[in-house]
Amino acid sequence: MKRTIIITGGAGFIGSHVVRLFVNKYPDYHIINVDKLTYAGNLENLTDVENMPNYTFVKADICDFDRMLDLMKEYTVDGIIHLAAESHVDRSIKDPFTFAKTNVMGTLSLLQAAKVYWESLPEKYSGKLFYHISTDEVYGALELTAPEGIDSPFTTAASSEHHHAYGEEFFLETTKYNPHSPYSASKASSDHFVRAYHDTYGMPTIVTNCSNNYGPYQFPEKLIPLFINNIRHRKALPVYGKGENVRDWLYVVDHARAIDLIFHDGKVAETYNIGGFNEWKNIDIIKVIIKTVDRLLGNPEGHSLDLITYVTDRAGHDLRYAIDSRKLQSELGWEPSLQFEEGIEKTVRWYLDNEEWMNRITSGEYEKYYESMYKDR
Ligand code: NAD
Ligand code: DAU
Repeated sequence: MKRTIIITGGAGFIGSHVVRLFVNKYPDYHIINVDKLTYAGNLENLTDVENMPNYTFVKADICDFDRMLDLMKEYTVDGIIHLAAESHVDRSIKDPFTFAKTNVMGTLSLLQAAKVYWESLPEKYSGKLFYHISTDEVYGALELTAPEGIDSPFTTAASSEHHHAYGEEFFLETTKYNPHSPYSASKASSDHFVRAYHDTYGMPTIVTNCSNNYGPYQFPEKLIPLFINNIRHRKALPVYGKGENVRDWLYVVDHARAIDLIFHDGKVAETYNIGGFNEWKNIDIIKVIIKTVDRLLGNPEGHSLDLITYVTDRAGHDLRYAIDSRKLQSELGWEPSLQFEEGIEKTVRWYLDNEEWMNRITSGEYEKYYESMYKDR
């Protein structure tokens, strides 16, 4: 079946993996990547698909309702996978307005444009889907009831060999929303708007909430690429607080595979949690990164441990995230493809092999690159 799908935020970290997967896997689909190219958007993430006949890039702001409506009409769009967002918690603490604008008002403008366009069609919502990508951070924070770690009661192919859980509780699809940061509050609000468009207007919607992603093309303000780059340049590694916070890490391609599966087989109006049962304390994952980078750079073991620098904690820093993804596994048969040890090795290698990609971002030159390559269309 032919389909025309808008993927928003396709020039970002996760979005670029989703665009790549859809463009390559579905030659009959027309994939329209709608991205404003903020500091986090980088068309270099997509050079391998930019000339594919089923791919179109449009530089546009999701907050621009008229533009979104025009695009949907122009391309007769029947599906939307919405990833565009401001995504960095630390930035949201400094500048909450931008987060409310993009994440809340941008999502609302996209929803309203889809409503107006789809309701104007004879078949209305039939065969349409608005799929909203969200985060586990909307659920708040879990207690760290097992600080030394216990054998994880659940695993997937993504779980690390260490199989640790740092508490008995996990986020379920039914867990009450309790966001703490301006970022998670804005994502929670957008999730509510998406569900309201289903409940009020009958729009076919799906929401998924995923745990921390890692892998190639992540903007180097986030923990893993930042630390890999700092180790390479012998710069300090700023560990927030005591490094005791726990995150649940999933390889980005496995998130993209879950999005593909849910877009095609997910049940309308449902929520699916996505995660690989792969919890790590920050300080432990940091040591794994140091060990891997040192080995791949030919440094003696332990060489970069001296870079660890404990700094003031992030305000309102959520203690533990842990996703229960058994619904996605049992209802749709999703299973991650990569175990953590393999995923982290691949990731470190990718950043070390793609030094120019990193240097262009950190030197600010990548902005000039895409501005000269792509004009407003
Ligand atoms: P990112 O910051 O790497 O990319 C965001 C993209 O959105 C960029 O390309 C940016 O240019 C674009 N964008 C921002 N504002 C826009 C606007 N107004 N109009 C159009 N485009 C705009 O983010 P990411 O880490 O890839 O996250 C993508 C989505 O997945 C977000 O919605 C985020 O909340 C969610 N998510 C992320 C993670 C994670 O670990 N990174 C985990 C769960 C969910
Ligand atoms: O859980 C999903 C979320 O994961 C996504 O919704 C967000 O978009 C994504 O950015 C990510 O949020 P985090 O805040 O967990 O990711 P970050 O990489 O910023 O930080 C990971 C952990 O590492 C967190 O506990 C804070 C800590 N940290 C981070 C940085 C950047 C440090 O200790 N030092 C640092 O310099």
